[in-house]
Amino acid sequence: MDREAACEFKTIADVDRAVLRVLNDSENRELASELQLSAFEVPFFTGSPILRQLLVLKEFYRRSNAVDTFYIEQGQRNRAARTNDTSLLHFEAFEASFREINEATHQAFRRGHVHKFLDLGFAPGGFATWILRTNPEAHGVGISLSLKASGIQSQIDPRFRERFQECYDDVRRVAAGQVDSGIENLLHGKFDLIIANATIMLQEDAALWSDRIHLIYAQILVALQHITSGGSFVISLPMRPFDWVVDIIAVLQGPSFESITTVKPKFQARRSITYLVCQGFRAADREKGVLMDRLRVGIQYLENAGGPVNALSGGTAMLPRLSDVLTQTHMAEQQSFILGFLAPVWHQQYNAIHEHYQWMLEGGNRRQSSITMQASAADTATSWRRQQAPAVQPGGANSPNWRTRSTEPHGRAQRGRDEGSHHGGTGSGTEGSWRKGLH
Ligand SMILES: C[S@@+](CC[C@H](N)C(=O)[O-])C[C@H]1O[C@@H](n2cnc3c(N)ncnc32)[C@H](O)[C@@H]1O
Repeated sequence: MDREAACEFKTIADVDRAVLRVLNDSENRELASELQLSAFEVPFFTGSPILRQLLVLKEFYRRSNAVDTFYIEQGQRNRAARTNDTSLLHFEAFEASFREINEATHQAFRRGHVHKFLDLGFAPGGFATWILRTNPEAHGVGISLSLKASGIQSQIDPRFRERFQECYDDVRRVAAGQVDSGIENLLHGKFDLIIANATIMLQEDAALWSDRIHLIYAQILVALQHITSGGSFVISLPMRPFDWVVDIIAVLQGPSFESITTVKPKFQARRSITYLVCQGFRAADREKGVLMDRLRVGIQYLENAGGPVNALSGGTAMLPRLSDVLTQTHMAEQQSFILGFLAPVWHQQYNAIHEHYQWMLEGGNRRQSSITMQASAADTATSWRRQQAPAVQPGGANSPNWRTRSTEPHGRAQRGRDEGSHHGGTGSGTEGSWRKGLH
């Protein structure tokens, strides 16, 4: 299948038929290879019908000209709009997203349940605003890149400034203990809620995979340093079962927190990220120390990592593991846990992309769109096609076999690699559109 084939779709029923045909006519491993999944992902792919369906649908969506035009035009509209308007729109969307996170976790953060919180990557401040509004006694500290570095302005109501300290620095420096005494003082004491939503400021196709993972490791390290016993941790992560993502889930799951759940807010329904909500921090000091040491070793590896993400002698395959389970006999158990854990968000992303694809094929593209139909600022940093090709780890499906697949079912798989091999595939980035100038 290629762009031309995707362009021939007139209705969503055409798309559904093509997806079915691909799924029925291919052997799972062959399809995984065409989609250029890493060896680590293959058992998840073969074990999950919804993941297979999602990845094939995404591939058609990615290759559709209508979709690409939509994201490019939406990006242009965002750039033409006044900075504050777009920024405010996203601030409100993040605020609503935290409300969804709260609702999906039996109101874990309702009034009186947050006392002191740390918000990593807080700007523009939607999450923090929801928490401060809902919890009138809560105090918080936020750390984000400066306006100059990120182009993202805090939109937090000055009335909250008394209860919320805004700091501007790089979380990776905080994790390395390189901050000034002002921030150090603010971080004194423990926090009962820590949020990690800092996402790389470079566009997806310009950011190194190692930088993305480094930022995520740094946020976990800071969280471990400052979370109180029984506290909660909310982190945005890619929802593909990449080796390093499964590794992170493994350490957060059993040993560190009493429960973890995954929430996918509507605002980011089509994006390949989800929020892990980890509750009841319970790691003993020794376990915590081991995990923090492993994170530091990982960061060191990532700082020196070059080359493609899927290199056998480098990449994420050689990234020192945080958990024990990935290297031991528990792997099968972990796989079955992950399949159940991520299936709901795979379903949600599938439904959201399907709905949007249908909407566009029916001409919705030319009509006024609602916030959930609009592309987020992140989406429109670049075209969906350019974002998604590298978002697949290790690469996108550029195999010539896709060209013929919708019409000639039994073609031989030929692997092709695209530029995705050099990038992170975290799916949580592409925040370049948050830059000044863009909105
Ligand atoms: C998706 S936005 C977060 C939105 C926020 N949760 C809200 O509720 O409004 C990502 C934020 O991460 C910040 N960021 C990106 N890289 C960072 C880094 N290395 N250190 C600190 N903040 C970072 C960006 O400046 C941006 O403010």
